[in-house]
Amino acid sequence: MDIRKEIFGEIEGKQVDSYSLKNDHGMEVSFITYGGTVTKILAPDRNGCLENVVLGFDTLDEYIKHTHYFGAIAGRVAGRIGNARYSWNGKTVELTPNEGRNHLHGGSIGFNHVIWNEEKVSVAADRVSVTISYYSRNGEEGYPGNLKVDASYTLTDKGSFLIEYQAETDSDTPVNLTNHSYFNLSGDAKYPILDHTLQMEADAYLPLTEENLPTGEIRHVEGTPFDFRQPRTILEGMGESEETKDGYDHPFVLKKDGSVVLSHAGSGRTMTVETDQKSVVLYTGNFLTGERLSGGGTAGRHKGLCLETQGYPDAVNHPHFPSVMVKAGEVDRASTVYTFGVKE
Ligand code: GLA
Repeated sequence: MDIRKEIFGEIEGKQVDSYSLKNDHGMEVSFITYGGTVTKILAPDRNGCLENVVLGFDTLDEYIKHTHYFGAIAGRVAGRIGNARYSWNGKTVELTPNEGRNHLHGGSIGFNHVIWNEEKVSVAADRVSVTISYYSRNGEEGYPGNLKVDASYTLTDKGSFLIEYQAETDSDTPVNLTNHSYFNLSGDAKYPILDHTLQMEADAYLPLTEENLPTGEIRHVEGTPFDFRQPRTILEGMGESEETKDGYDHPFVLKKDGSVVLSHAGSGRTMTVETDQKSVVLYTGNFLTGERLSGGGTAGRHKGLCLETQGYPDAVNHPHFPSVMVKAGEVDRASTVYTFGVKE
């Protein structure tokens, strides 16, 4: 097990570092302190060939200019908040609108666009991990409360990549953190993800308005394009439905301790996602255009898919959704583990 740290770039005199966590089977997870962004995950295919299974760039400049949140931490609140506002204790809180009139992924300068600091590096016989932190000030993007956030990235010798968040505030604030990696198990983004097979322990999903906000309904998946209780490919799932004609960009309600399994028959790669979060947003890269990727490939529509484990989007405006509010003095925790394997 090993960790390598390098300088990745610089913004306005501030250094951005990159960390590569390696296990003894060649698996490697790299991330940078800008946005806590996961830039590369090398995982073996069924022949032991290591390839990158997330979309990433070579340079910091591309991460700064890019608007699709490749690999980044989305926060303080991932997803959309309708009309960029919510009420709490009788007061209206106004956030930065950064997608039309709505607030998306924490605002104009979300957690994806800030530099995180190294807190702790640890190397053990069976795991390596790095913890980074960000101090989000009271009023940032409209959010109340000074929020101290830690994100820990751990790679184990069993092929698991674990992301753990911890957040503490001095005033009540919503917190909903997720990682926005675009996975493509074909390796180095060779093919679109439409032939990936997905299985999710989710009996319900959240239908969306035209602005991609939850309508408030929690709908059973039976007989819909959202039924992934039995494995099927993304393409099969999408079917001919009007709701999914551009692909998926929808929250699924996970069963308690429900897992998600993504696999790719061509390469044999599998990824199992386990989380303590209540939902997962499946986003199939519907808005991606032809960005040049690290490793020589190009992005483009459906070249990667995100499985954003999180609380329900826009929960602050739907009292019947589980709350994402963190009270002053409380510690909020969230964890997700991605385990990579192969199937013959
Ligand atoms: C999330 C949203 C999508 C899109 C991407 C970023 O997954 O749900 O609608 O905004 O982020 O491009």
